[in-house]
Amino acid sequence: MTEASAPILLFDSGVGGLSVLAEMRRLLPGAPVIYAADNAGLPYGTKTEAQIAARVAGLLGRMTERYRPRLVCIACNTASTIALGMVREVLEVPIVGTVPAIKPAAAMTGTGAIGLLGTEATIRQAYVDRLEAEFAKGRRLLRHGAPELVQAAEARLRGQPVDPAVFARAADGLRLQPGGEAIDTVVLACTHFPLVEKELAEAFGPEVRFIHGAGGIARRIAWLTGSQPFAQHRPDVALFTRDDAGIAELAPALAGYGLEHIEIL
Ligand code: DGL
Repeated sequence: MTEASAPILLFDSGVGGLSVLAEMRRLLPGAPVIYAADNAGLPYGTKTEAQIAARVAGLLGRMTERYRPRLVCIACNTASTIALGMVREVLEVPIVGTVPAIKPAAAMTGTGAIGLLGTEATIRQAYVDRLEAEFAKGRRLLRHGAPELVQAAEARLRGQPVDPAVFARAADGLRLQPGGEAIDTVVLACTHFPLVEKELAEAFGPEVRFIHGAGGIARRIAWLTGSQPFAQHRPDVALFTRDDAGIAELAPALAGYGLEHIEIL
């Protein structure tokens, strides 16, 4: 029997998983939450597969031991596409991953040209190749790695200014590829990117629609925990892997997501 106070633990390298938390709050407003950001490891997108897998498995092992979550959501495409299978094998707790929303994008596109914006690590994964082969037959999927957008989302949530050229470069990275001018649907395949969707929409223009997985992930979490009791005995926690000055700058944004208490692992 699940303890009513057992939290749902969302894990990301930084603030990206907050885009998933926002959707989850709408479906499960009473769920106790631990939002874990591996700020000591950020960014994941420029690391190797071995580095990411080792970090994610090691940290989730420590976090699940300490906080005993009822469910873990890896709210990060990079970590999920690389380490989901491995983490599921070693941890006993149910794990929900985040994978690029290629299937709904293939159903949405009118031109047949889909853009995929992710981290450099995500766009080279065999996991993405498999999703493309299975769900985007007869479509054209163009990929672009945009690490600058991760930094932009991190800065925005800290209330820092972001140069709009960053968003224009992301749009160009897809549009200037052969066939890129036909893109009408863009998959935001990094949980940081929905946090700057408004700026991306301006850069891409009105003919492009965006899709990401946060709503579907939230529904999956709600479905898996549907029959369980929930009780919040203490403020929800934002957990970091390193104490640094950037955390205080984030505190107002975290409070906006209902994360009132900060802890360091
Ligand atoms: N938020 C992460 C993702 O969904 C990655 C950001 C990063 O650490 O590079 O891929």
